[in-house]
Amino acid sequence: MVSPNFYLSFRAQRGISQFCKVWDVSLDMAKTKIMIQQLRIAIQKSGRLYDDSISLLKECGIDLRNVKDRLKTESDNFPLEVFFLRDDDIPQYVEDGVADIGIVGQNVLYEKRKEAEIIEELGFGKCRLALAINRNEEYVANYLQGKRIATSYPALLQKYLDENKITAEIHEISGSVEIAPGIGLAEVICDLVSSGSTLFMNGLKEVETILESQAVLVRNKSLDKEHLELVNKLLFRIRSVKKAKRNKYILLNAPNDQLSKIFELLPGMKSPTVLPLAEEGWSSVHSVLSEDEFWEKIEQLKAAGAQGILVVPIEKMIV
Ligand code: PRP
Ligand code: ZN
Repeated sequence: MVSPNFYLSFRAQRGISQFCKVWDVSLDMAKTKIMIQQLRIAIQKSGRLYDDSISLLKECGIDLRNVKDRLKTESDNFPLEVFFLRDDDIPQYVEDGVADIGIVGQNVLYEKRKEAEIIEELGFGKCRLALAINRNEEYVANYLQGKRIATSYPALLQKYLDENKITAEIHEISGSVEIAPGIGLAEVICDLVSSGSTLFMNGLKEVETILESQAVLVRNKSLDKEHLELVNKLLFRIRSVKKAKRNKYILLNAPNDQLSKIFELLPGMKSPTVLPLAEEGWSSVHSVLSEDEFWEKIEQLKAAGAQGILVVPIEKMIV
């Protein structure tokens, strides 16, 4: 396979018409070869996933040209074109291949039931799709039977009702679902809850969870080899960033006679780094510690005689 760079430089050297004659390819084909190496990603243009999506790309070392109030932008240092879209439209764009990949909430992805493959859970935009009722109502068995439920997620709600053999009336509305009980449109709402403050401010309480959701990276199901390679390149960076966030770099001082105990607690990536301190009989130990076991390990390290413990964030982690 001749690389697009080669086409480009060849074109520059010989002129496009001669290039086409020599290689017996049409001008259009040559153009597609050159354009094909760009990956197109769809992200939410505003709302709950916007900031984290942009930060993730930045942390992956991808610089984007002025992103504010744009529908489309590009990167100068990664072959990436970014489309800013309504989150509800992202699954369709990815299914159709207008975008190769997208960052979208599972809530939207499952509601739209489009053909897009999840390739990575991104760990942000966590929320749940839940049922809520008036705070003063008692939530008794069969409460939902025959009720009116307002939602922007009719498909997910219907699935839940079917699975639980409940007959209820779904009122689909596109926004401000939380005011539905207050204006007499419905007794129940089915909406996203993250901090819970929207429900609280509207005098509602959560009674059932329908779906736990977070942002995911999705891809079109039939990407070609070149695009898949770019996706994998991006995915490698995303995983390094995620891994770094889950881990901390730890430095501590310990008496030499306690080192074996400390090594057991801190296996590190291969094994810990040990440097002698100026003070006789003491060493400095450097290692990596996972966020999940962080506090527990710190206590055990202190008990094993560790002192002057420093913990610092890791920017990227390649293993
Ligand atoms: C959702 C939902 C609530 C709010 C809940 O809206 O519709 O209004 O978030 O979050 P909270 O529990 O932290 O208060 P979203 O911001 O996703 O906007 P949209 O539904 O209009 O797209
Ligand atoms: Zn939305």
